[in-house]
Amino acid sequence: MLQTNNQFRPKIHFAPKKNWMNDPNGMVFFNGMYHLFFQHNPNASVWGPMHWGHAISKDMIHWEEQAIALFPDELGMIFSGSIVIDWNNTSGFFGDQPGMVAIFTHHLEQSSGPPKQYQSLAYSKDEGKSWVSYSGNPVLKHPDKVDFRDPKVFWYEKIKRWVMILATGQTVMIYTSRNLVDWQFKSEFGEGKGYQEAVWECPDLFELQIEGTNKTKWVMLVSVGDNPDKQEGSKTQYFIGDFDGEIFTPQDDLVRWLDYGKDNYAGVSFSDIPQVDGRRIYMGWMSNWRYANHVPTGEWRGQMTLPRKLSLIETNEGMLLKQVLVEEIMQYMYESIPFKPNQLINNLQVSLEGVPFMVEVLVDPAGAKEIDFIFQTDRDEELIVKLDYLKKAIVLDRSRIGIVEFSELFSAKQVLPVATNKHDRLQMVIDHSSIEIFNDDGRYALTSLVYPHAAFDKLIITSDSSEAKLIEGKCSRIKIGDEA
Ligand code: FRU
Repeated sequence: MLQTNNQFRPKIHFAPKKNWMNDPNGMVFFNGMYHLFFQHNPNASVWGPMHWGHAISKDMIHWEEQAIALFPDELGMIFSGSIVIDWNNTSGFFGDQPGMVAIFTHHLEQSSGPPKQYQSLAYSKDEGKSWVSYSGNPVLKHPDKVDFRDPKVFWYEKIKRWVMILATGQTVMIYTSRNLVDWQFKSEFGEGKGYQEAVWECPDLFELQIEGTNKTKWVMLVSVGDNPDKQEGSKTQYFIGDFDGEIFTPQDDLVRWLDYGKDNYAGVSFSDIPQVDGRRIYMGWMSNWRYANHVPTGEWRGQMTLPRKLSLIETNEGMLLKQVLVEEIMQYMYESIPFKPNQLINNLQVSLEGVPFMVEVLVDPAGAKEIDFIFQTDRDEELIVKLDYLKKAIVLDRSRIGIVEFSELFSAKQVLPVATNKHDRLQMVIDHSSIEIFNDDGRYALTSLVYPHAAFDKLIITSDSSEAKLIEGKCSRIKIGDEA
């Protein structure tokens, strides 16, 4: 396959047509349409003056980019935030018809001293096509916090108020409001909690059912920025606990990671998914602040993860946040080729007919120390997913494929420490510049960018054990429109 400037453009992940994108913003479902707004610099393919870009989709897989929604103004750039549907016109911005209210951070650079960050509002009466900036902006300031950003707002019926969670350094703060305009401080969470090695960003807070029970718990997502003195780069942690409308109480002091790959950051959940649907759906920015400005994609930069349905499960290792791809992706699967059941993994070779594709397998290691899934292109390069039974981990190695030189971190192995079962179920989705791995039906995830010199055309599965086998599995192509 010939190398073109667009060789890395994803087919089933959202990426802007041109220029820079980071965090997903204002993800909301309204009148049958999913809306994704995003941190966007429309003038260059590196981070710069932030706008909110906009895309719409009926199924969260096939997106159509729209006109830019929010532009920087005299109060500053438009940083991350959320959108809610004001069903009952609590804000007074609407008449009989409900509309969208965006709650976002204005970020103002100062000629001297640190920048200012305030929360502001904009509203739309035409499903996000045009926006009015609220005349009373900003609606929420803090007397001395420099980091005071990324408001995520939801309506909490129990207290009949809007709740806002926002990132405030290495903590989050919770405010409530009756009208989205006047906000009262309720609590601060995070002092000494969780991972504290870098700035906290883009929090989210929602209630989730524990699978198989009628109990619920609250989940708080908190992204943690890049600390150049640490190995990891930016990543996302979560807490499980209780929330009474004012105070979040974590159930323990564990640090839990949402994703073990390097490239899932600043993700939050959709707002206003109807109750009859009931899903809590998450998408993240598929990059890492350590190298996001340097990835080799040319005139566009930044893409989102696939949308994932979240739920809580009880496991031997405690309660976990599980993520499974939304079922909407199934309609784009075609040419599903099953593996012969119970076949030995003996240098098994599968030819891949095109990207994107999904490989699903259930393996029986039968005493193996390792099983390798090796994705190759015709350029003598390979991406390796190793089930390492000695280390009890799934290890992704992207150091031997494509373009890696732009960051040392990019070549580092990515390790998902799972106590692998006797039978491991793996799902791997590969697009032109990413791989998303889900283990054990979404119990753990590993999301990673990869920039091969050509499209993958072969999968080789090997093991040190001659007994190891594939109990079942299949390889399916994924296609949107006629493009694939
Ligand atoms: C997270 C973040 C947010 C901020 C935005 C700026 O990636 O740093 O905290 O609002 O990006 O683009």
